[in-house]
This record gives sequence, structure tokens and C-alpha cells, in this order.
Amino acid sequence: MCGIVGAVAERNVQGILLEGLRRLEYRGYDSAGMAVLSADARLNRQRTMGKVAALDARLKEGPLNGSVGIAHTRWATHGRPSEGNAHPHQSGDSLAVVHNGIIENFESLKAELEGQGYVFTSETDTEVVAHLLAREFTRHRDLLMAVQRVLAMLDGAYALGVVHKDEPGVVIGARKGSPLVVGVGIEEAFLASDPLALLQVTDRFIYLKEGDVVRLSQKGTVEIFDHRGAMAERPVQVFEHGDGAASKGEYRHFMLKEIHEQPQVIAATLEGRLSERGVLVKSFGANAEVLFSRAKQVHIVACGTSYHAGMVARYWLERYAGLPTQVEVASEYRYRQVVVPEGTLFVTLSQSGETADTLAALRFAQHSGYLGSLAICNVPGSSLVRESDLTLMTQAGPEIGVASTKAFTTQLTALLLFTLALGKQRGMEEARQTAIITALRGLPTLLSQVLALDGQIETLSAAFAEKHHALFLGRGAHFPIALEGALKLKEISYIHAEAYPAGELKHGPLALVDSEMPVISVAPNDELLDKLKSNLQEVRARGGELFVFADEQVAINAEEGVHILRLPHVDEALTPILYTLPLQLLSYHVAVLKGTDVDQPRNLAKSVTVE
Ligand code: G6P
Repeated sequence: MCGIVGAVAERNVQGILLEGLRRLEYRGYDSAGMAVLSADARLNRQRTMGKVAALDARLKEGPLNGSVGIAHTRWATHGRPSEGNAHPHQSGDSLAVVHNGIIENFESLKAELEGQGYVFTSETDTEVVAHLLAREFTRHRDLLMAVQRVLAMLDGAYALGVVHKDEPGVVIGARKGSPLVVGVGIEEAFLASDPLALLQVTDRFIYLKEGDVVRLSQKGTVEIFDHRGAMAERPVQVFEHGDGAASKGEYRHFMLKEIHEQPQVIAATLEGRLSERGVLVKSFGANAEVLFSRAKQVHIVACGTSYHAGMVARYWLERYAGLPTQVEVASEYRYRQVVVPEGTLFVTLSQSGETADTLAALRFAQHSGYLGSLAICNVPGSSLVRESDLTLMTQAGPEIGVASTKAFTTQLTALLLFTLALGKQRGMEEARQTAIITALRGLPTLLSQVLALDGQIETLSAAFAEKHHALFLGRGAHFPIALEGALKLKEISYIHAEAYPAGELKHGPLALVDSEMPVISVAPNDELLDKLKSNLQEVRARGGELFVFADEQVAINAEEGVHILRLPHVDEALTPILYTLPLQLLSYHVAVLKGTDVDQPRNLAKSVTVE
């Protein structure tokens, strides 16, 4: 999704802005651009379709020199991907703006501006902001005031970066509904939609609050104004994760690197949260003990892969903690008439903490009579974290591949901790708790063993490269794992994949099974195994080729058309985590064989900050 970088520096900013855009590439985008104020206060701009590398090539032909500038990667919402629709947008040659989000009332504003003689050159909603700002600047001759006036006219969600040639040492930023951070440098100040974009220049950040407007000016001056226009103080926070995440290291793709990081990041997610006697409830926040003890049910809301983590948690929470649990995608939940039973805890799951629908769901829930809210999230300082009553941070570190991998399994780990914390208060058998905790401690080692099967999974992947469809089957808590497996395959290899609870096979999808439809299943050694085996027989009987990831103790044999990969045995509470890894690796290798853009699949964005 769109990315913003801005800088007021003591040096030429072109390189800083370009590197910032490169670091935002993982978010997914279709065009890029940059505007820089030159020493003689002229506004110069370059924009290109396609990758940041194309912008880099353009800048080699026509460099932009100056110590103040803004830059952007665009993911099309209003208007197709094109150079003319790429940001920054200008009003004449005096002002440029970059924008993330959507201006919902842009049509009426555009009509008003056209009536006043402004000429539009793009199909975007952003261009209205450029002309409105130019108009207000002409009236007030003050860029900060112009921005504040314009914000009052806008409906929707935005993060903005603005420069004007008549205030040559200034970048103004503003946020409402889309993330924006200030990077604090030495006598320099920066702006970005994601701190990762600025780690090459600083590790100190100010996370702007909703409605904040910031003025960056020379010598690193940062002035913040809240939604009422009053000067505001915001703390400077040091970014916790090192810069290593921004490089692929020895791996060919970020996705592969992130798959292989899972043993360490799961260990990190457990660290400091377990004592001899169980989960430390305080890890969720000072008030967790009280809120958890009052919880009578749980509502979980999330999007995409995070939603699948929530679906697994439902099985865990009902089984181990005896708590009725509902799970829903945020885009549905937020527009529904929801009945909230007394004593319901609201839980959001999000890698980024900025997904527009999940954030809107939280804000809706805050007025809907819930007991309180818990966010399980991977990005410290994100909107979701700041606005929730309780938080549990997953420790996945920055995830760059658009297709979520380590974020998912750390969410599952965090959700199991959550389940154990609630279970403990509800009389979950102590021996069972202890067994799960012991198994959790041993999980990273088992995951490393699964990752060592990479070569065998790569071999299996060859069977998929020419296929157009695939079916994933699972039962119980592994049905969401099948859903996640299918999502990974479609996201990065563009093969149409569906997932079904194996018991539903005969109610429709069996009609699709033939030799062209590979069927993938996970088969842990659990109470549903015999039922699953019968379902697999149904597939074989119709000529479907089976790929089964099975527990090493399961009696199921490879034969013509049946490929078996054995996985180490693990406590059944943890099988959803363990069985996710081979499915991630399978999708990865199929995508590599197909030659797709693994880390930045077409049309997708890492962090969906618009509705
Ligand atoms: C996008 C990403 C997915 C992610 C989903 C929810 O669609 O491509 O990988 O699962 O957003 O994101 P969140 O940051 O809220 O987990």
C-alpha cells in the first residue's frame, strides 16, 4: 500500500528519499515519485510507473537536488496506475503533496475547485488536496495554517506530506486514519508512513497521534500540533528491532528468510511471558488480571492471515478455557449490528496494527459495551496498540514479504499464551497446562526440524507448477491452517486454491476432484485422524493426487498418487503452528518455479490502510 517519505536535512535528500522508498517497496505499489525543493526555492519532481528502480533510473537522467523533499510509492485506489496519477501531486509549480489513504468527499471538493478555475491533471482524490492547499496558502501565506484549514474540509483517512516553494525549509505532515511517524535525526528531521523507511538515517521516532499535524523545519526542528491546533508533546521512542530485517541476508527472498526465522521469533514471543507456574498474565498489561477474570466470552476480529489465526484461537479458547468465542473478518464486523453479551472481551489481531478495517472495528467496539479490548500485534507504537486497553506484542520483527508467515505463527503463539492465561483462571487442569508449556518451550527445536525438510518440499512443489487449481483440506483447528495454506498459494503463485473442512468435501468440492486437482492435507495424529483418512480415500477414489503432511506416528503410506511427508510429533495443542510451516514452504517453492514476484505479489499490499 502507499508509502510516504519526507525529509528536511542538512544535505541533499534525494538519496535518503530514494532509499526510504526502497525500504517501503515491500508494502506493494505500482508507481513512485519524488519532489524536492532546490536551493533557489524551485520545486522539481520526477515520477515513474513501476518499481522504485525505474524512478532511480529517471533520477540518474534528471537528478533532484535540494535539502527538503517528499516522496511516495502509490498503490492505486482512485485512478489507474499511471505516471500522471503517481504522487507527488502539484498545484501549479509552487506546492507538492503526497498522500496515503482516501479522501471520501473528493468529488464535491473537486467540483468546487473546478468552479474556481483549478485545472485537474490526474484522476486521483489526492489532487484536490494539492489545489485546496495552494488556495489556502494564497489566502493565509502560512503553510501550517493552510494545512490545518484544509484538514477541516476533508472526510476520510489520510497521512500527508506537503512542501511549498515559498516556505523552502519546511515539510508539513498530518495524519488521520493512516500511520505517520517523525524520524528524529541530528539537526535533521524526517517523515515516513513506516519507521522501516528511515532506519538508514535514524532509530529515534515520534509516533504521531490521530489528528496531529507536524512541522519539520531546519536544524531538526519538530513542532507538533494536536487535532485542536494546540502545541503537543509526543515522546521520542527508540526503534527496537535492528536494521537487519531490511536485508535478505543469505536468502533469495524475504519470504524465505522470514519462514526460516520462525524458530527464533517464536522463542522471542515466549520470552519473559512464562514462569514455572504458567503464563504471566501481566504480560498483557497491568489491568489484564482483572479483565481476564471478568471475561465470559471473546470476540476476535481481524483481516487476512490474522483472521485465520483468530479462527485457530476459537478452537483453543473453547477447548482449553471453556470460553465461548466468535471470530469475524473486520470488514464485515464493522458494518454489522453486533449483539455484545455482557462480559465480552474484544480482541484484534494484526501484524501491522494499521489495517483500516481492523482499526475501525476496534473504534466501533469501544462504544459497543465490551468489557475491554486486547490487541495482539507486531508493531510497537501502531494505532491498534495505542488505542487498545491491553496489548500483547508478537516478537516477529519487521515482516517484509507481503505474504505473512512469521507474523502468523507468532500470532498463534501469542494466542496460545492468551488461551492458557484465561484457562488458568477457569480451572484448566494444571497437568495439561504444564504439558502445553513444556511443549511450547520445545517448539522452536521442532520447527527447525520441519524447516530441514525444505529440500523434500521443494521436490513436491514441482507437481504444482503447471496446475491451475488446488484444494486444501483440514479438520478441527487445522481447517484454518488449510485456509491459510490456500491463501499463501494463491497470494504468491496465483494458482486458484480453496480450503475446506475435510468433512464438507462430499457436499460440493468433491465434484471438482480429478487428476488435475492436487489435494493437500495436514494429518496430525489427533482424534479426527480416522475421519480425515476416510475423506482422503474419497479423494483417491476420484483420481485426485494427494499431498499429505502427516505426523511421523500416523499409519498412512505413500503409494501411486499419494505423497506423504512426515513431520515430527508434537503436543496436539501446537500442531496448528507446526503444520503451517510446510504449507508456507510449498507455496514459496511453487511461486519460485512459476517465476512470480514472491515478496511483492501483484495487486497486493502489505499493510492495507484504506478500506
Ligand atoms: C494484507 C496483507 C496480509 C495480512 C492482512 C491483514 O492483506 O497482505 O498478509 O494478513 O493485510 O494485515 P494485518 O497487518 O492487520 O495483520
